[in-house]
Amino acid sequence: MYSEKFQQSIAAVEAAREKNIALEPERMTAKQKEDLLAEFHPDYKQNEFSVLKAGPNKGEKVPHELAEMLQAHSRITKDCVDLSNPDYETDVLIIGGGGAGSSAAIEAHEAGADVMIVTKLRIGDANTMMAEGGIQAADKPNDSPAIHFVDAFGGGHFAAKKELLRKLVCDAPEAIQWLSNLGVEFDKDAEGTMVTTHGGGTSRKRMHAAKDYSGAEIMRTLRDEVLNRGIPVVDFTAAIELILDKDGKAAGAVLMNMETKELLVAKAKTVIIATGGAGRMHYQGFPTSNHYGATADGLVLGYRVGAKLLYAETLQYHPTGVAHPEQIFGALVTEKVRSLGAKLVNVNGEVFMHPLETRDVAAASIIRECSARGNGVETGNGLGVWLDTPMIEKIGGEGTIEKRIPAMMRMFEKYGIDIRKEPILVYPTLHYQNGGLDITEDGMTTNVENLFVAGEAVGGIHGRNRLMGNSLLDIIVFGRSAGIHAAAKAKDTTVGELTLDHIDAFEAELEAVGIKTDAVSPKLLPDYTRKN
Ligand code: FUM
Repeated sequence: MYSEKFQQSIAAVEAAREKNIALEPERMTAKQKEDLLAEFHPDYKQNEFSVLKAGPNKGEKVPHELAEMLQAHSRITKDCVDLSNPDYETDVLIIGGGGAGSSAAIEAHEAGADVMIVTKLRIGDANTMMAEGGIQAADKPNDSPAIHFVDAFGGGHFAAKKELLRKLVCDAPEAIQWLSNLGVEFDKDAEGTMVTTHGGGTSRKRMHAAKDYSGAEIMRTLRDEVLNRGIPVVDFTAAIELILDKDGKAAGAVLMNMETKELLVAKAKTVIIATGGAGRMHYQGFPTSNHYGATADGLVLGYRVGAKLLYAETLQYHPTGVAHPEQIFGALVTEKVRSLGAKLVNVNGEVFMHPLETRDVAAASIIRECSARGNGVETGNGLGVWLDTPMIEKIGGEGTIEKRIPAMMRMFEKYGIDIRKEPILVYPTLHYQNGGLDITEDGMTTNVENLFVAGEAVGGIHGRNRLMGNSLLDIIVFGRSAGIHAAAKAKDTTVGELTLDHIDAFEAELEAVGIKTDAVSPKLLPDYTRKN
């Protein structure tokens, strides 16, 4: 139940509901989208970016907060640890215990490699766990990987690395089967056929889901598989610096116990960075849908040893983060809500856009509605627009919300809002890091041998914007592939003498270009202590 101040606007939304359900909003033209993005999308705000002065991407712009971390001091000097006496030795060291790291671990283990996971929180504390709407795969008769490719390539502004996107879409149907065989309970109809829906920018219904907790269901299954296989998982232990060997190949990591701060050394033949996203960097002050540990650590670790970034200046602001109530400010309202028929309407109850435009366009459109057009709803925490969830019950029949998006219903119910009867307030939230470390098709970084990357820390799979459901897909496809290739590479690798010389080299570069900073990185956790 909303307080009095929202009632006038809710009355307008209710009065227009039947008409709005029947309305078929036009899609924007390419030119309209371009103009909209240029004026309202956060990625286009030039004053929110810094040009890097040091490292492999010097001369390129990234968000201020990321630039500070990329050009910060290491948390250690090279004398802090004894590299000659490692605490752990393994073939494949995986940094990160989310969906990509777990998939990589399972496949590397399957290939016969010794593998271990280190994770700064616990296995499963990851954006995978938070993913709601689903996972794309073109496995229906009216669809094909080629059509999936065209949708994703266009949605990403034709910037995806074609060989990566090709792999993503071609391996997708098998990825679904792999997950299903491991035990993921995808939604099925009475005949046992998987139920699929649309997402923004999809021309076919190819979103496979486990209600609206698809990521949690996938992560549960992957975690069980990792633990059942007896793969060692070192929890609450962050990688704070990569180790190279004297030939410049990745050869392990310096680890830090998050509680005791004890430093440990892990030596490995190959290393996979699977550290996830960056929502907790709160770029441009946005709230986030991400888990507590999403602080761009993998980008920092890779960058300091010379791995290149691709598209690190592009972020995804999910159009529908919670704008009210404030206890769940920024939390994800899955795009599936719009797939099921809910439309976005402004303070006057007017539909102002097609509900399934791609995410960057949808986010920019909401920002315009609230700013330039002055049609936002004052939430007490900023502005928002309505997502008219009761439309879902009218279109799909009573019970649709409970059946298809029960987690969404429960999240709002806790705050006295019944989304079957009342609309909800949304505004863009920082959701996904489109850019990341540049990799080849086998998952190895383009310029540091034996350093692999999988999941959200990769750049280039999706281009400059990602479609819904292609992230859960990429963690599986590229996680598995990185595990397979890292295990194979480990077989041919002899690790030379370990070094941390890159720390001094990077320090020297910072000094040479005149960067003076107190910042240390990786960040590891957000700092929410009150500053005043
Ligand atoms: O809206 C969502 O459920 C988010 C999905 C995704 O980022 O792929």
